[in-house]
Amino acid sequence: MIESDDIIMLSQNANMVTVNHKSPDRYKKAIYKIAKFFKNEFSYDFIQYAEKENDTQHIAYCWIHPQIVPIISHMDDFRVSIIGATCFRYRKNYKNMKPFWGMQWMWLHPYFRDKGYFKKSYPIFKEKIGEFIMEPPFSRTMATLVNDKKYGYDHKKLLAKYKK
Ligand SMILES: CC(C)(COP(=O)(O)OP(=O)(O)OC[C@H]1O[C@@H](n2cnc3c(N)ncnc32)[C@H](O)[C@@H]1OP(=O)(O)O)[C@@H](O)C(=O)NCCC(=O)NCCS
Repeated sequence: MIESDDIIMLSQNANMVTVNHKSPDRYKKAIYKIAKFFKNEFSYDFIQYAEKENDTQHIAYCWIHPQIVPIISHMDDFRVSIIGATCFRYRKNYKNMKPFWGMQWMWLHPYFRDKGYFKKSYPIFKEKIGEFIMEPPFSRTMATLVNDKKYGYDHKKLLAKYKK
């Protein structure tokens, strides 16, 4: 369980909270912390989300610890633990591609992996963001998901569609 010292839930969709450039800095800080775990686990050389992220065309989500959701739904202001996050960005100048929405990264605490969070969230992402492409580099699990067409994502088809 990851303690985020300063996240307050405004709206509820499953156990996901949406964060964008207009969100309070404390929300962005929570996403930043998760991005930092992601960077550390995979030894990347930079954190893919800023503490005061100012990309006006990004949409991030974080997942609230499942045991907290029933309690928090009755409260306006409450500190919660988050178990993971993801960030989508609108790519206008990405290699040889036409503009597209990309899932830049996603990271879940190890206790919450392989429990269907990604697959259950996929229809919500599609509803909120529309068509999106998952961006490399892919971890082993993500490579499996990218090549698994059973839940509706078709990587090769999307790459062909958005290729310049
Ligand atoms: C990658 C990640 C976001 C996927 O989310 P998730 O909620 O765990 O994914 P789901 O449970 O919906 O689906 C995982 C699928 O990958 C498979 N999988 C799990 N671990 C795997 C592994 N080590 N190698 C290959 N496939 C694996 C599962 O079997 C499952 O497929 P199934 O439903 O057919 O059984 C999450 O596991 C995570 O945060 N991992 C660490 C960070 C990471 O790799 N981020 C992506 C960077 S590109």
